[in-house]
Amino acid sequence: MNILLIGSGGREHSLAWKMAQSPKLTNLYTAPGNAGTMELGENIDIDTNNFDEVKKFVLERSINIVVVGPEAPLVAGIHDFFLADEMLKDISVIGPEKNAAMLEGSKDFAKEFMMKYTIPTAGFKTFDEINIKEADSYLESLKPPYVLKADGLAAGKGVLIIDSLNEAKAELKDMIENKRFGEASKKVVIEEFLDGIELSVFVLTDGETYKILPSAKDYKRIGEGDTGPNTGGMGSISPVPFADSSFMEKVEKRIIKPTIIGLQKEGLKYKGFIFFGLIKVGNDPFVIEYNVRMGDPESESVIPRIKSDMVELFEAVGEDRLSEKSIEFNDKYVASVFLVSGGYPGSYEKGKVMRGFDEVDDCILFHAGTKIDANGKIITNGGRVLSVTASGKTMEDALEKAYANSEKINFEGKYYRKDLGKDLIADS
Ligand code: AMP
Ligand code: GLY
Repeated sequence: MNILLIGSGGREHSLAWKMAQSPKLTNLYTAPGNAGTMELGENIDIDTNNFDEVKKFVLERSINIVVVGPEAPLVAGIHDFFLADEMLKDISVIGPEKNAAMLEGSKDFAKEFMMKYTIPTAGFKTFDEINIKEADSYLESLKPPYVLKADGLAAGKGVLIIDSLNEAKAELKDMIENKRFGEASKKVVIEEFLDGIELSVFVLTDGETYKILPSAKDYKRIGEGDTGPNTGGMGSISPVPFADSSFMEKVEKRIIKPTIIGLQKEGLKYKGFIFFGLIKVGNDPFVIEYNVRMGDPESESVIPRIKSDMVELFEAVGEDRLSEKSIEFNDKYVASVFLVSGGYPGSYEKGKVMRGFDEVDDCILFHAGTKIDANGKIITNGGRVLSVTASGKTMEDALEKAYANSEKINFEGKYYRKDLGKDLIADS
């Protein structure tokens, strides 16, 4: 199998690492990739938003499967582009078609879908230029804090949680009338605030059969104790101790099954990963959001727990044969600690030389914002730089190993959170 993997983060490095272990893999190309994916195959410098460029490459290199890491190419219709092209239509694309990718591409679409299929989620109402006058009274009917979400993709920044009613009213106007998040906030979903603890659950599906992957928790805020601004993710842990089997049964029955059935009934073609961003309120799961891809930094802790051959699974998804496959996981805990550039998620410098790669022991390093410079040295190339991932019999073991190794990798300005898992320890 020749595989093209689209993306450049830690998620993609973890997928590349896993696929590289498959005897079925012949060539792996990652576009654009990072210093980590480069060691497992070839990094390709093509513009993955330009589907004609992707087509040319796919045909030249006889690609069999395209694995799409991030959401943007899916929301832009890369899967549909392949299906509509005589020369590409038999090549498998792992990632949903455009209409189904709207589960992530439009919050309003996702909420309407959940209402229709009675999937538990926060109560909501959607506003735009036309009905904006009714927004004040809807906000007044809710209890604080107020949750305002830009409808479209806003690079993870489009959700505001606001304590003051007046501020919420003003922000809503700013989002819709002043297009605070550009086209993404032409429509805004206002929803009830749910008070609980978040977790991420993933499935791999061919549209008929689904396989549930291990649960994970990510740490979004930059500061310890979940303080400060949101980031792309400061680390993750899998499994989530509080997502025990009775909770996961509820997740499957109330959320996963109705989602798959809903997709089928709506004629939404889905081959790929579905990411359920959940919140546990009391003992019940609610959906905060859908994403149409694996999570990052969750993948870095979830993918190493999969024992089965990933290439075989992707092949089966592409050929509607997932029902023939079983998927197995190891029963370890995995923890991933993200090393980030000083200043992130604000401004930060790139190009810092990274050291210590030979000193790490019993861990996996998943690269994200890294590249090789002209002298062959690994340098920083982004805010989130490297995931130090380790496994152990307990969550504490996994964290201890990940932290011991996090100290060994160095670059100027390195920062990482030292409190991952502390919120979960009483539970494990
Ligand atoms: P989203 O982009 O929809 O995942 O929202 C970003 C973050 O905002 C989530 O990870 C939650 O921490 C928080 N959030 C979103 N919706 C709600 C809600 N209805 N109640 C409480 N927190 C929420
Ligand atoms: N970890 C959250 C995300 O991937 O969107």
